[in-house]
Amino acid sequence: MLNFDFYNPTRIIFGKGRIADLAKAVPAGAHVMILYGGGSIKNNGVLDEVHAALRAHKTSEFSGIEPNPSYETLMQAVEQVRNEGCDFLLAVGGGSVIDGAKFIAAAVQFEGDPWAILEKRGANITRALPFGSILTLPATGSEMNSNSVVTRKSLKAKMSFASRLVYPQFSILDPTKTFTLPVRQVGNGVVDAFVHVMEQYLTYPVDAPIQDRFAESILKTLIEEGPKALAEPENYDVRANIMWCATLALNGLIGAGVPHDWATHMVGHELTALFGLDHAQTLAIVLPSMLRVRRDSKREKLLQYAARVWDLHGGDENMRIDVAIDKTQQFFEQMGVKTRLRDYQLGGENIDAIIKQLEDHRLVTLGEQRDVTLAVSREVLEMSI
Ligand code: NZQ
Ligand code: ZN
Repeated sequence: MLNFDFYNPTRIIFGKGRIADLAKAVPAGAHVMILYGGGSIKNNGVLDEVHAALRAHKTSEFSGIEPNPSYETLMQAVEQVRNEGCDFLLAVGGGSVIDGAKFIAAAVQFEGDPWAILEKRGANITRALPFGSILTLPATGSEMNSNSVVTRKSLKAKMSFASRLVYPQFSILDPTKTFTLPVRQVGNGVVDAFVHVMEQYLTYPVDAPIQDRFAESILKTLIEEGPKALAEPENYDVRANIMWCATLALNGLIGAGVPHDWATHMVGHELTALFGLDHAQTLAIVLPSMLRVRRDSKREKLLQYAARVWDLHGGDENMRIDVAIDKTQQFFEQMGVKTRLRDYQLGGENIDAIIKQLEDHRLVTLGEQRDVTLAVSREVLEMSI
């Protein structure tokens, strides 16, 4: 096992009816800026519940944080938070709103141009406003991690930062609040969580059986529960299981002491920045080819994955690897997330632009072995047409 630090201060408040616990979770006397997206929380009653729970607090609102939150929108929120003197943020929504809150929390107190936070990937943050979240879309794990991804539309740059100063103080996870998710977002969420596990699991063995078995249990649970969420949208237990899977997939636990890949995510971010695809759509396109192209360096883990996650035992090893990757791709399709560039009206003519973005962002050696060069990324994209 590799050396590691594990730190996670986020309190998880899980279950039906838990938004009522907001009043206790938010510091007494705080002036709370409620941050949200395009309005789903107005339609499903979540915003009303938030106001009811915070009736003893002073509150303000900022709405319009879009999917793949933009620097441009978030800077408007920063200005409003400063003008109104809010001292606590509450993100209500999916990963985009929570990531947005992390950036706002850091930018409000930042001296100088806040774009530097993204250029330095968070290393220059010395303080941040405290915040909590109410999660309405299980997918990113942002509710219990210190990462944030922000897009600067004017530069077509989708950049991430991380800092231990931007963990949510608490996150409320009420699975009933996910009943209103559109089918597309249910599929996206399951695929994103699945790929988070793969980025931390499907590398090379370092004798870390507990991390491996945690990872495999999350993958198997997503495979079992994901299709049920599509078939029975109001099945509470299914939603609860998916929600907790997505949080555990990226809260530091399974990634402690093991190598990480993240090449699929890095290539995927460029697809979103250039063409506006949903985050999970990009992962569904890239991951299967990424595994096929890198099957030699990932061979041992691919065989373990084939055996333990897909119950493929015996017979030719190469065949087992092929089938495991095919099954992964079929699972994404089953969740309603298409897995080919052409499914999104993209093709070989777009690949040069993607490679140029990777080069401009200095993403020229990715993956756990740093061997995903631009040539390898190109091969992966060509295989994904
Ligand atoms: O904006 P509203 O109206 O709220 O609608 C949202 C949005 O349109 C809707 N939605 C959310 N909850 C709903 C709902 N609709 C009905 N009922 C509900 N309960 O869903 C749409 C998508 O929301 P978004 O927050 O964009 O989705 P997601 O949670 O997938 O977040 C994606 C963002 O997170 C980043 C991605 O890159 C992307 O920018 N990621 C963040 C990570 C992290 N912080 O660790 C890791 C990930 O790998 C990822 O990169
Ligand atoms: Zn992701």
